[in-house]
Amino acid sequence: MAERETWASRLGFILAAVGSAVGLGNIWQFPFKTATEGGAAFVVVYLVAALLLGLPAILGEFVIGRRANLNAVEAFDRLDHPAWTIVGAMGLLTGLWILSYYSVVGGWVTRYLLGSATGAYFAAPAAYFGRVSMGWEAVAFHGAFMAATAGIVAFGIEDGIEKATKLMVPSILVMLVGLAVYASTLNGVGAAYEFYLSPDFGFIADNIGSIVPYAVSQAFFSLSLGMGAMITYASYLGDDDSLFADGGLIVVLNTSVGLLAGLVVIPLLFVQFGTVPDAAAGGGAGALFISVAQAFATLGVAGRVLGVLFFGVVLVAALSSAISLLEVVTAYVVDNYGYSRPATAFSFGGVLFALGTLSAWNTAWLDWFDSLAYGVLLPLSVLLGVVFVGWVYGPAAVDEIKKGSGTGTTFATAWLWSVRTYVLIGVFVTLYLGVTDIYAAPAIPFV
Ligand code: TRP
Repeated sequence: MAERETWASRLGFILAAVGSAVGLGNIWQFPFKTATEGGAAFVVVYLVAALLLGLPAILGEFVIGRRANLNAVEAFDRLDHPAWTIVGAMGLLTGLWILSYYSVVGGWVTRYLLGSATGAYFAAPAAYFGRVSMGWEAVAFHGAFMAATAGIVAFGIEDGIEKATKLMVPSILVMLVGLAVYASTLNGVGAAYEFYLSPDFGFIADNIGSIVPYAVSQAFFSLSLGMGAMITYASYLGDDDSLFADGGLIVVLNTSVGLLAGLVVIPLLFVQFGTVPDAAAGGGAGALFISVAQAFATLGVAGRVLGVLFFGVVLVAALSSAISLLEVVTAYVVDNYGYSRPATAFSFGGVLFALGTLSAWNTAWLDWFDSLAYGVLLPLSVLLGVVFVGWVYGPAAVDEIKKGSGTGTTFATAWLWSVRTYVLIGVFVTLYLGVTDIYAAPAIPFV
Protein backbone atom coordinates (compact mmCIF):
# COMPACT_ATOMS: atom_id res chain seq x y z
CA MET A 1 0.00 0.00 0.00
CA ALA A 2 1.33 3.40 -0.91
CA GLU A 3 2.48 5.62 1.92
CA ARG A 4 -0.20 7.98 3.09
CA GLU A 5 0.20 11.65 2.20
CA THR A 6 0.90 14.23 4.87
CA TRP A 7 0.61 18.01 4.75
CA ALA A 8 3.69 19.66 3.30
CA SER A 9 3.74 22.08 6.23
CA ARG A 10 1.90 23.00 9.41
CA LEU A 11 0.64 26.09 7.63
CA GLY A 12 -0.79 23.82 4.97
CA PHE A 13 -2.96 22.07 7.53
CA ILE A 14 -4.13 25.28 9.18
CA LEU A 15 -4.99 26.87 5.87
CA ALA A 16 -6.84 23.81 4.68
CA ALA A 17 -8.76 23.56 7.95
CA VAL A 18 -9.56 27.26 7.81
CA GLY A 19 -10.38 26.80 4.15
CA SER A 20 -12.86 24.12 5.12
CA ALA A 21 -14.29 26.15 7.97
CA VAL A 22 -14.53 29.52 6.24
CA GLY A 23 -17.13 29.25 3.56
CA LEU A 24 -20.70 29.93 2.68
CA GLY A 25 -21.58 29.11 6.28
CA ASN A 26 -19.84 32.30 7.36
CA ILE A 27 -20.44 34.60 4.43
CA TRP A 28 -23.87 33.56 3.22
CA GLN A 29 -25.58 31.71 6.05
CA PHE A 30 -24.40 33.51 9.18
CA PRO A 31 -25.68 36.95 8.14
CA PHE A 32 -29.03 35.64 6.98
CA LYS A 33 -29.63 33.47 10.02
CA THR A 34 -28.70 36.48 12.14
CA ALA A 35 -31.22 38.55 10.23
CA THR A 36 -34.04 36.06 10.66
CA GLU A 37 -33.25 34.79 14.18
CA GLY A 38 -33.17 38.00 16.17
CA GLY A 39 -30.05 39.97 15.29
CA ALA A 40 -27.62 40.68 18.12
CA ALA A 41 -29.27 38.12 20.39
CA PHE A 42 -28.38 35.43 17.88
CA VAL A 43 -24.84 36.80 17.54
CA VAL A 44 -24.23 36.57 21.29
CA VAL A 45 -25.44 32.99 21.54
CA TYR A 46 -23.40 32.11 18.47
CA LEU A 47 -20.19 33.52 19.95
CA VAL A 48 -20.69 31.69 23.22
CA ALA A 49 -21.41 28.49 21.33
CA ALA A 50 -18.33 28.77 19.11
CA LEU A 51 -16.00 29.23 22.06
CA LEU A 52 -17.55 27.01 24.70
CA LEU A 53 -18.83 24.16 22.55
CA GLY A 54 -17.14 24.53 19.17
CA LEU A 55 -13.54 24.72 20.35
CA PRO A 56 -13.60 21.65 22.64
CA ALA A 57 -15.49 19.72 19.97
CA ILE A 58 -13.05 20.57 17.18
CA LEU A 59 -10.19 19.47 19.44
CA GLY A 60 -11.99 16.17 19.88
CA GLU A 61 -12.08 15.61 16.13
CA PHE A 62 -8.40 16.52 15.82
CA VAL A 63 -7.54 13.96 18.49
CA ILE A 64 -9.41 11.17 16.73
CA GLY A 65 -7.94 12.01 13.35
CA ARG A 66 -4.32 12.37 14.35
CA ARG A 67 -4.37 9.37 16.65
CA ALA A 68 -5.84 7.06 14.06
CA ASN A 69 -4.08 8.50 11.04
CA LEU A 70 -6.92 7.25 8.91
CA ASN A 71 -10.14 8.42 7.28
CA ALA A 72 -13.10 9.34 9.45
CA VAL A 73 -14.90 6.00 9.23
CA GLU A 74 -12.06 3.53 9.76
CA ALA A 75 -10.42 5.78 12.32
CA PHE A 76 -12.72 4.34 14.97
CA ASP A 77 -11.74 0.82 13.97
CA ARG A 78 -8.07 1.59 14.26
CA LEU A 79 -8.66 3.05 17.71
CA ASP A 80 -10.09 -0.36 18.64
CA HIS A 81 -13.72 0.71 18.83
CA PRO A 82 -15.20 -0.82 15.70
CA ALA A 83 -18.79 -0.30 16.85
CA TRP A 84 -18.22 3.46 16.64
CA THR A 85 -17.48 3.38 12.92
CA ILE A 86 -21.19 4.07 12.69
CA VAL A 87 -20.46 7.59 13.92
CA GLY A 88 -17.98 8.06 11.12
CA ALA A 89 -20.48 6.70 8.64
CA MET A 90 -23.17 9.04 9.90
CA GLY A 91 -20.84 11.98 9.57
CA LEU A 92 -20.10 10.96 6.05
CA LEU A 93 -23.77 10.95 5.14
CA THR A 94 -24.28 14.31 6.82
CA GLY A 95 -21.50 15.74 4.71
CA LEU A 96 -22.98 14.42 1.50
CA TRP A 97 -26.39 15.71 2.47
CA ILE A 98 -24.98 19.18 3.10
CA LEU A 99 -22.89 19.24 -0.06
CA SER A 100 -25.94 18.57 -2.23
CA TYR A 101 -27.41 22.01 -1.48
CA TYR A 102 -24.17 23.76 -0.63
CA SER A 103 -23.23 23.30 -4.25
CA VAL A 104 -26.44 25.01 -5.34
CA VAL A 105 -25.46 28.12 -3.41
CA GLY A 106 -21.94 27.77 -4.82
CA GLY A 107 -23.64 27.87 -8.21
CA TRP A 108 -25.39 31.15 -7.32
CA VAL A 109 -22.02 32.62 -6.38
CA THR A 110 -20.61 31.56 -9.74
CA ARG A 111 -23.61 33.11 -11.48
CA TYR A 112 -23.06 36.37 -9.62
CA LEU A 113 -19.38 36.37 -10.53
CA LEU A 114 -20.35 36.43 -14.20
CA GLY A 115 -23.30 38.73 -13.57
CA SER A 116 -20.95 41.25 -11.99
CA ALA A 117 -18.72 41.31 -15.04
CA THR A 118 -21.64 42.09 -17.32
CA GLY A 119 -23.56 44.23 -14.84
CA ALA A 120 -26.51 41.86 -15.23
CA TYR A 121 -28.01 42.51 -11.80
CA PHE A 122 -27.43 46.25 -11.72
CA ALA A 123 -30.92 47.28 -12.77
CA ALA A 124 -32.93 45.20 -10.30
CA PRO A 125 -30.84 43.29 -7.73
CA ALA A 126 -33.71 41.67 -5.82
CA ALA A 127 -35.59 40.52 -8.91
CA TYR A 128 -32.33 39.18 -10.35
CA PHE A 129 -31.86 36.92 -7.35
CA GLY A 130 -35.37 35.56 -7.78
CA ARG A 131 -34.59 34.73 -11.38
CA VAL A 132 -31.23 32.99 -11.03
CA SER A 133 -31.75 31.19 -7.72
CA MET A 134 -34.18 28.59 -9.05
CA GLY A 135 -34.76 26.71 -12.26
CA TRP A 136 -32.58 25.66 -15.18
CA GLU A 137 -29.94 28.30 -14.70
CA ALA A 138 -29.50 27.35 -11.06
CA VAL A 139 -29.24 23.68 -12.03
CA ALA A 140 -26.57 24.44 -14.63
CA PHE A 141 -24.41 26.49 -12.29
CA HIS A 142 -24.87 23.92 -9.53
CA GLY A 143 -23.48 21.37 -11.98
CA ALA A 144 -20.49 23.54 -12.80
CA PHE A 145 -19.72 24.09 -9.13
CA MET A 146 -19.97 20.38 -8.33
CA ALA A 147 -17.71 19.51 -11.26
CA ALA A 148 -15.07 21.97 -10.07
CA THR A 149 -15.23 20.53 -6.56
CA ALA A 150 -14.78 16.98 -7.79
CA GLY A 151 -11.98 18.12 -10.08
CA ILE A 152 -9.93 19.54 -7.23
CA VAL A 153 -10.54 16.56 -4.95
CA ALA A 154 -9.43 14.28 -7.78
CA PHE A 155 -5.93 15.77 -7.58
CA GLY A 156 -5.37 14.73 -3.96
CA ILE A 157 -4.70 16.80 -0.88
CA GLU A 158 -1.33 18.28 -1.60
CA ASP A 159 -1.69 19.40 -5.18
CA GLY A 160 -5.36 20.16 -4.99
CA ILE A 161 -6.54 21.37 -1.65
CA GLU A 162 -3.41 22.80 -0.11
CA LYS A 163 -2.62 25.00 -3.09
CA ALA A 164 -6.18 26.11 -3.68
CA THR A 165 -6.51 27.61 -0.21
CA LYS A 166 -3.24 29.51 0.18
CA LEU A 167 -4.47 32.92 -0.92
CA MET A 168 -8.05 32.69 0.12
CA VAL A 169 -8.10 33.65 3.78
CA PRO A 170 -6.13 36.89 3.48
CA SER A 171 -8.10 38.03 0.46
CA ILE A 172 -11.45 37.30 2.10
CA LEU A 173 -10.50 39.34 5.11
CA VAL A 174 -9.36 42.27 2.98
CA MET A 175 -12.50 42.26 0.84
CA LEU A 176 -14.86 42.02 3.78
CA VAL A 177 -13.11 44.75 5.75
CA GLY A 178 -13.25 47.00 2.69
CA LEU A 179 -16.96 46.40 2.19
CA ALA A 180 -17.70 46.83 5.90
CA VAL A 181 -15.94 50.20 5.85
CA TYR A 182 -17.86 51.21 2.75
CA ALA A 183 -21.15 50.17 4.37
CA SER A 184 -20.36 52.19 7.49
CA THR A 185 -20.26 55.40 5.46
CA LEU A 186 -23.82 55.06 4.16
CA ASN A 187 -26.82 56.89 5.54
CA GLY A 188 -28.99 55.03 7.97
CA VAL A 189 -26.53 52.41 9.21
CA GLY A 190 -27.15 53.33 12.85
CA ALA A 191 -30.27 51.19 13.08
CA ALA A 192 -28.39 48.32 11.48
CA TYR A 193 -25.63 48.40 14.08
CA GLU A 194 -28.23 48.57 16.79
CA PHE A 195 -29.92 45.47 15.40
CA TYR A 196 -26.66 43.59 14.86
CA LEU A 197 -24.57 44.61 17.83
CA SER A 198 -26.77 45.52 20.75
CA PRO A 199 -28.35 42.40 22.20
CA ASP A 200 -31.66 42.44 23.96
CA PHE A 201 -31.23 39.86 26.71
CA GLY A 202 -34.95 39.73 27.37
CA PHE A 203 -35.41 38.66 23.76
CA ILE A 204 -32.83 35.90 24.22
CA ALA A 205 -34.65 34.66 27.31
CA ASP A 206 -38.01 34.64 25.54
CA ASN A 207 -36.76 32.90 22.42
CA ILE A 208 -34.10 30.67 23.86
CA GLY A 209 -35.73 27.55 22.47
CA SER A 210 -35.24 28.60 18.86
CA ILE A 211 -32.11 30.76 19.14
CA VAL A 212 -30.03 28.06 20.80
CA PRO A 213 -30.44 25.29 18.24
CA TYR A 214 -29.91 27.67 15.32
CA ALA A 215 -26.91 29.42 16.86
CA VAL A 216 -25.18 26.28 18.12
CA SER A 217 -25.73 24.40 14.90
CA GLN A 218 -24.51 27.44 13.02
CA ALA A 219 -21.29 27.28 15.04
CA PHE A 220 -20.91 23.57 14.23
CA PHE A 221 -21.66 24.07 10.57
CA SER A 222 -19.28 26.95 10.33
CA LEU A 223 -16.47 25.01 12.01
CA SER A 224 -17.09 22.03 9.71
CA LEU A 225 -17.83 19.78 12.68
CA GLY A 226 -19.87 16.64 12.82
CA MET A 227 -18.96 14.93 9.60
CA GLY A 228 -15.41 13.88 9.95
CA ALA A 229 -13.89 16.70 7.89
CA MET A 230 -11.63 17.71 10.73
CA ILE A 231 -10.93 14.06 11.58
CA THR A 232 -9.82 13.50 8.02
CA TYR A 233 -7.68 16.63 7.82
CA ALA A 234 -6.03 15.95 11.18
CA SER A 235 -5.20 12.44 10.02
CA TYR A 236 -2.61 13.95 7.71
CA LEU A 237 -0.99 15.74 10.65
CA GLY A 238 2.32 15.03 12.41
CA ASP A 239 2.80 14.55 16.15
CA ASP A 240 4.79 17.74 16.72
CA ASP A 241 1.82 20.02 16.09
CA SER A 242 -0.05 21.67 18.95
CA LEU A 243 -3.70 20.82 18.55
CA PHE A 244 -4.67 23.52 21.08
CA ALA A 245 -2.86 26.25 19.19
CA ASP A 246 -4.16 25.16 15.80
CA GLY A 247 -7.71 24.71 17.05
CA GLY A 248 -7.76 28.10 18.77
CA LEU A 249 -6.47 29.89 15.71
CA ILE A 250 -8.97 28.18 13.46
CA VAL A 251 -11.91 29.07 15.71
CA VAL A 252 -10.86 32.72 16.02
CA LEU A 253 -10.25 33.20 12.30
CA ASN A 254 -13.46 31.45 11.35
CA THR A 255 -15.60 33.42 13.78
CA SER A 256 -14.07 36.71 12.65
CA VAL A 257 -15.03 36.07 9.06
CA GLY A 258 -18.66 35.47 10.04
CA LEU A 259 -18.81 38.61 12.17
CA LEU A 260 -17.28 40.66 9.37
CA ALA A 261 -19.74 39.31 6.83
CA GLY A 262 -22.55 40.42 9.13
CA LEU A 263 -21.01 43.87 9.31
CA VAL A 264 -21.35 44.03 5.54
CA VAL A 265 -24.68 42.37 4.89
CA ILE A 266 -26.83 43.73 7.74
CA PRO A 267 -26.01 47.43 7.13
CA LEU A 268 -26.45 47.05 3.38
CA LEU A 269 -29.85 45.43 3.93
CA PHE A 270 -30.91 48.23 6.26
CA VAL A 271 -29.77 50.92 3.86
CA GLN A 272 -31.72 49.31 1.05
CA PHE A 273 -34.88 48.25 2.88
CA GLY A 274 -34.87 50.44 5.99
CA THR A 275 -35.16 47.28 8.11
CA VAL A 276 -34.19 43.64 7.92
CA PRO A 277 -36.63 42.32 5.39
CA ASP A 278 -38.31 39.03 6.19
CA ALA A 279 -37.25 35.93 4.36
CA ALA A 280 -39.69 36.35 1.49
CA ALA A 281 -38.65 39.94 0.84
CA GLY A 282 -34.98 39.12 0.61
CA GLY A 283 -33.84 38.67 4.19
CA GLY A 284 -33.53 34.89 3.89
CA ALA A 285 -31.33 32.88 1.57
CA GLY A 286 -31.03 35.85 -0.75
CA ALA A 287 -29.73 38.29 1.86
CA LEU A 288 -26.06 38.23 0.91
CA PHE A 289 -26.72 38.33 -2.80
CA ILE A 290 -29.33 41.05 -2.78
CA SER A 291 -27.52 43.30 -0.33
CA VAL A 292 -24.07 43.35 -1.86
CA ALA A 293 -25.42 43.30 -5.39
CA GLN A 294 -27.34 46.46 -4.56
CA ALA A 295 -24.20 48.07 -3.18
CA PHE A 296 -22.14 47.22 -6.27
CA ALA A 297 -24.95 48.41 -8.53
CA THR A 298 -24.70 51.94 -7.14
CA LEU A 299 -20.99 52.12 -7.96
CA GLY A 300 -21.14 51.86 -11.74
CA VAL A 301 -18.05 50.49 -13.44
CA ALA A 302 -16.17 50.29 -10.16
CA GLY A 303 -19.04 48.11 -8.94
CA ARG A 304 -18.41 45.64 -11.72
CA VAL A 305 -14.76 45.31 -10.78
CA LEU A 306 -15.56 45.00 -7.10
CA GLY A 307 -18.33 42.52 -7.79
CA VAL A 308 -16.00 40.27 -9.76
CA LEU A 309 -13.38 40.44 -7.01
CA PHE A 310 -15.88 39.88 -4.22
CA PHE A 311 -17.75 36.96 -5.72
CA GLY A 312 -14.44 35.54 -6.94
CA VAL A 313 -13.15 35.38 -3.40
CA VAL A 314 -16.43 34.00 -2.06
CA LEU A 315 -16.27 31.35 -4.76
CA VAL A 316 -12.83 30.25 -3.59
CA ALA A 317 -14.08 30.13 -0.01
CA ALA A 318 -17.08 28.05 -1.07
CA LEU A 319 -14.94 25.70 -3.12
CA SER A 320 -12.42 25.10 -0.38
CA SER A 321 -15.30 24.14 1.95
CA ALA A 322 -17.05 22.00 -0.63
CA ILE A 323 -13.78 20.20 -1.23
CA SER A 324 -13.62 19.21 2.41
CA LEU A 325 -17.16 17.90 2.28
CA LEU A 326 -16.30 15.68 -0.67
CA GLU A 327 -12.82 14.76 0.56
CA VAL A 328 -14.17 12.92 3.59
CA VAL A 329 -16.04 10.32 1.61
CA THR A 330 -13.36 10.16 -1.08
CA ALA A 331 -10.61 9.50 1.48
CA TYR A 332 -12.71 6.71 2.94
CA VAL A 333 -13.39 4.97 -0.34
CA VAL A 334 -9.83 5.37 -1.61
CA ASP A 335 -8.26 4.14 1.67
CA ASN A 336 -10.66 1.29 2.04
CA TYR A 337 -11.46 -0.07 -1.39
CA GLY A 338 -8.46 1.17 -3.31
CA TYR A 339 -10.58 2.74 -6.07
CA SER A 340 -8.98 5.55 -8.01
CA ARG A 341 -9.30 8.99 -6.53
CA PRO A 342 -10.63 10.71 -9.66
CA ALA A 343 -13.25 8.04 -10.34
CA THR A 344 -14.44 8.17 -6.74
CA ALA A 345 -14.61 11.95 -6.57
CA PHE A 346 -16.53 12.25 -9.82
CA SER A 347 -18.96 9.43 -9.01
CA PHE A 348 -20.00 11.00 -5.74
CA GLY A 349 -20.08 14.39 -7.40
CA GLY A 350 -22.50 13.01 -9.97
CA VAL A 351 -24.85 11.51 -7.40
CA LEU A 352 -24.85 14.67 -5.32
CA PHE A 353 -25.46 16.77 -8.39
CA ALA A 354 -28.60 14.74 -9.00
CA LEU A 355 -29.77 15.11 -5.40
CA GLY A 356 -29.03 18.83 -5.42
CA THR A 357 -31.16 19.50 -8.48
CA LEU A 358 -34.14 19.50 -6.11
CA SER A 359 -32.70 22.44 -4.19
CA ALA A 360 -31.69 24.16 -7.40
CA TRP A 361 -35.16 23.76 -8.80
CA ASN A 362 -36.91 25.35 -5.86
CA THR A 363 -35.44 27.02 -2.78
CA ALA A 364 -38.17 25.47 -0.65
CA TRP A 365 -36.23 22.22 -1.05
CA LEU A 366 -33.03 23.97 -0.17
CA ASP A 367 -34.59 25.23 3.05
CA TRP A 368 -35.82 21.76 3.87
CA PHE A 369 -32.42 20.13 3.34
CA ASP A 370 -30.84 22.90 5.37
CA SER A 371 -33.20 22.63 8.32
CA LEU A 372 -32.82 18.88 8.56
CA ALA A 373 -29.05 19.29 8.57
CA TYR A 374 -29.32 21.99 11.24
CA GLY A 375 -31.99 20.57 13.44
CA VAL A 376 -31.00 16.93 13.45
CA LEU A 377 -28.00 15.68 11.50
CA LEU A 378 -25.28 18.06 12.69
CA PRO A 379 -26.10 18.09 16.41
CA LEU A 380 -26.61 14.34 16.40
CA SER A 381 -23.27 13.52 14.86
CA VAL A 382 -21.43 16.08 16.99
CA LEU A 383 -23.10 14.58 20.05
CA LEU A 384 -21.99 11.04 19.19
CA GLY A 385 -18.44 12.24 18.53
CA VAL A 386 -18.34 14.06 21.86
CA VAL A 387 -19.57 10.98 23.73
CA PHE A 388 -16.92 8.90 22.04
CA VAL A 389 -14.01 11.23 22.76
CA GLY A 390 -15.08 12.00 26.29
CA TRP A 391 -16.41 8.77 27.71
CA VAL A 392 -15.21 5.98 25.47
CA TYR A 393 -11.76 7.09 24.42
CA GLY A 394 -11.12 9.35 27.42
CA PRO A 395 -7.60 8.86 28.84
CA ALA A 396 -5.99 8.09 25.49
CA ALA A 397 -7.48 11.34 24.17
CA VAL A 398 -5.65 13.21 26.91
CA ASP A 399 -2.38 11.56 25.85
CA GLU A 400 -2.93 12.51 22.26
CA ILE A 401 -3.83 16.13 22.84
CA LYS A 402 -0.74 16.68 24.97
CA LYS A 403 1.56 15.65 22.13
CA GLY A 404 3.31 18.61 20.57
CA SER A 405 1.32 21.11 22.61
CA GLY A 406 3.81 21.82 25.39
CA THR A 407 0.91 21.91 27.86
CA GLY A 408 0.75 19.74 30.92
CA THR A 409 -1.76 17.23 32.10
CA THR A 410 -3.93 19.73 33.96
CA PHE A 411 -4.93 21.63 30.86
CA ALA A 412 -5.54 18.49 28.87
CA THR A 413 -7.60 16.99 31.68
CA ALA A 414 -9.66 20.16 31.96
CA TRP A 415 -10.43 19.84 28.27
CA LEU A 416 -11.47 16.22 28.71
CA TRP A 417 -13.81 17.06 31.57
CA SER A 418 -15.37 19.92 29.68
CA VAL A 419 -16.09 17.49 26.85
CA ARG A 420 -17.47 14.92 29.28
CA THR A 421 -19.77 17.32 31.04
CA TYR A 422 -21.06 20.63 29.87
CA VAL A 423 -20.17 20.25 26.18
CA LEU A 424 -22.06 17.00 26.11
CA ILE A 425 -25.04 18.53 27.87
CA GLY A 426 -24.96 21.60 25.63
CA VAL A 427 -24.97 19.53 22.46
CA PHE A 428 -27.68 17.27 23.79
CA VAL A 429 -29.93 20.23 24.59
CA THR A 430 -29.27 21.61 21.11
CA LEU A 431 -30.29 18.34 19.53
CA TYR A 432 -33.40 18.12 21.68
CA LEU A 433 -34.46 21.67 20.84
CA GLY A 434 -33.57 21.13 17.20
CA VAL A 435 -35.75 18.07 16.93
CA THR A 436 -38.66 19.58 18.80
CA ASP A 437 -38.43 23.16 17.58
CA ILE A 438 -36.82 23.43 14.18
CA TYR A 439 -37.98 20.11 12.98
CA ALA A 440 -41.32 20.01 14.70
CA ALA A 441 -42.98 20.62 11.35
CA PRO A 442 -40.89 18.88 8.72
CA ALA A 443 -43.01 20.25 5.90
CA ILE A 444 -41.54 18.31 3.01
CA PRO A 445 -42.09 20.67 0.11
CA PHE A 446 -44.93 19.89 -2.26
CA VAL A 447 -45.88 16.64 -0.61
N1 TRP B 1 -17.79 25.11 7.33
C1 TRP B 1 -18.17 25.31 5.97
C2 TRP B 1 -18.79 26.68 5.85
O1 TRP B 1 -18.90 27.38 6.79
C3 TRP B 1 -19.07 24.25 5.42
C4 TRP B 1 -18.55 22.91 5.71
C5 TRP B 1 -17.44 22.35 5.21
C6 TRP B 1 -19.08 21.99 6.62
N2 TRP B 1 -17.24 21.13 5.75
C7 TRP B 1 -18.23 20.90 6.63
C8 TRP B 1 -20.17 22.03 7.44
C9 TRP B 1 -18.47 19.84 7.47
C10 TRP B 1 -20.44 20.93 8.26
C11 TRP B 1 -19.58 19.86 8.29
O2 TRP B 1 -19.21 27.05 4.80
